[in-house]
Amino acid sequence: MKTDSSLTRRGFIRTAATGSLALGWLGSQQVAPRVFAAEAAKPALLGGTAVHPSGWAKWPEWRAAWEPELLQVYRSGRWFRGSDQRVAEFEQAYARLLGAKRCLATASGTTALTVSLHVMDVDAGDEVIVSPYTFIASYNAILSCKALPVFADTDPATLTIDPASIASRITERTRAIMPVHIFGMPCEMDPINAIARQHQLAVIEDACQAWLAEYHGRKCGVLADLGCFSFQESKHLPSGEGGAITGLSEQLIDKCDSFHNCGRAFGTNHGTGYFTRGNNYRMTQAQAVILKHQLDKIVRDTEIRQANADYLTMNLRQIPGVTPVRLPENSRSVWHLYPFRYDAAQFHGLSRDQFVRAMSAEGVPCGGIYREQYYDGLLDEAIASRGYRRLWGAARLKAYRDSFQELKGNQQVCATTVAMTQNMLLAERHDIDHILEAIRKIQDHSAALVKALA
Ligand SMILES: Cc1ncc(COP(=O)(O)O)c(C=O)c1O
Repeated sequence: MKTDSSLTRRGFIRTAATGSLALGWLGSQQVAPRVFAAEAAKPALLGGTAVHPSGWAKWPEWRAAWEPELLQVYRSGRWFRGSDQRVAEFEQAYARLLGAKRCLATASGTTALTVSLHVMDVDAGDEVIVSPYTFIASYNAILSCKALPVFADTDPATLTIDPASIASRITERTRAIMPVHIFGMPCEMDPINAIARQHQLAVIEDACQAWLAEYHGRKCGVLADLGCFSFQESKHLPSGEGGAITGLSEQLIDKCDSFHNCGRAFGTNHGTGYFTRGNNYRMTQAQAVILKHQLDKIVRDTEIRQANADYLTMNLRQIPGVTPVRLPENSRSVWHLYPFRYDAAQFHGLSRDQFVRAMSAEGVPCGGIYREQYYDGLLDEAIASRGYRRLWGAARLKAYRDSFQELKGNQQVCATTVAMTQNMLLAERHDIDHILEAIRKIQDHSAALVKALA
C-alpha cells in the first residue's frame, strides 16, 4: 500500500479506505493492553509480521435500501432541483440536525464557500483572513472572488487558526474571516467572533470536514454568519459531489439561494426574474436521495468515531513523542482525520516520512496530509496576474508574499503532523489496539529502523 507523508489528503483517503471490516461493539473506555509477543517481533518494514494485515472499512459505504428511491428518481426523469421536492426535503432535515434555521444544498463544498463569500459581500480587491492549514479549496474560493486569502497562523496545539494571530492581519480591505474546522475539530469560535464584531467583519465557517462537530453545545455551521459543508465522496456524509450552506438568517440563505440559482429571485431576495448576479451551483435530486438516506447513519457513525478517537487519545498520551491535539473546552470533534504531532527525537531520529512508511508496512496507513501550500505556485500565479496587480499594486503583493515566512506555527504543524483516516475509526476496539501496537512497535525498534533506512 503506497503511503507517504506527501500524499494529498484525498489520495491518502482513497488509499486507506480498503479492505472490509464489520462494525461492532466498541466497549467502554479502557487502557489498551500491550501485546508483548507482537512487540518483540521485527517491524514489518524490516521483514517482520504486520500488526494489522486485514485492512480497514471500505469508504464510502452503500446500502441496497437506498436503491429503490434512487431508481425512481432516474426513471421519473425529474432529475433537476426544480423538478421535485427531494433537495428541499434534504435541506430541511439537515437544518434540523444542525439546529440551523435554514440550509441550502449546493453542487459542492467549494461552491458553498464561493456563494457564501459573495453573499457576505466579499468583492474584488478585498481581503479574507483564513487558516493556511486546510484543503486548497478554502484558498481557491477566496481567489475566485478576486479577493486575497490572508493567512493567520495555525496553533500547533489545535491545528486550527490561532485567534491571537488574526488581529495583526486586519487591514482596511479585510472583509471577512474564514475559520476552517479542519479534520472536524472546531475552531475556538468565541474569540474569532469577538474580533469580527469589533472590526465589523463577516465570519464564514469552512465546516467542509465538520458535519455534527460541536462547540459550546452548538453544531459547527451555525456558529457564525454562514457555514459551509462538503459531501464529496470521501466525506462522512458523501454523495459523490455536493455541499450545503447553513445559517440562522433567512435573509442570508435567501440571498445564497438566488446566487446559486443563476440570480433568480428567491424568498426575501425578490425582484423580477434574474435580478442579481448569480451562477448555477445547484444540487441534483439523485444527490439529495443519497444524502437523505444517510442522516441517521452519520449520527451513529459519528458516535463510533468519537468513542474510538477518545480511546486512542487516552492511550497515545502514554507514548512519548506522540501528542494528540487539544480541542477547545466543551467541544466535540468528529474526526474526519485523526491527527497527532510526531516528535522524531523520541524515535531515535526516525523521520516522519520513515515513521509513516513503517506504519503503513504494519497495515496502519497514515500520512503527513497538508504541506505549506502557499508555496505551491497558485498564489504566485494569482498575484502575478494582471487583475491582482491592478487591484493591489506591487508593494502590497510583495509584502503579502513575504508574510508567509511568519507562519511559524503552520510550518511546525505541516512538518510534524501525522493523521489517519476516518474509516479506521469505524473499526472494532481490538483493531484500534493495533494502531497503538504498531506505534509502540516502531518506537521500540526505531534505532534499528533508522540504521536500516539510512
Ligand atoms: C476544508 C475543506 N474546505 C473546502 C472543501 C471543498 O469541498 P468540495 O470538495 O466539496 O468542493 C473541502 C473538501 O475536501 C475541504 O476539506
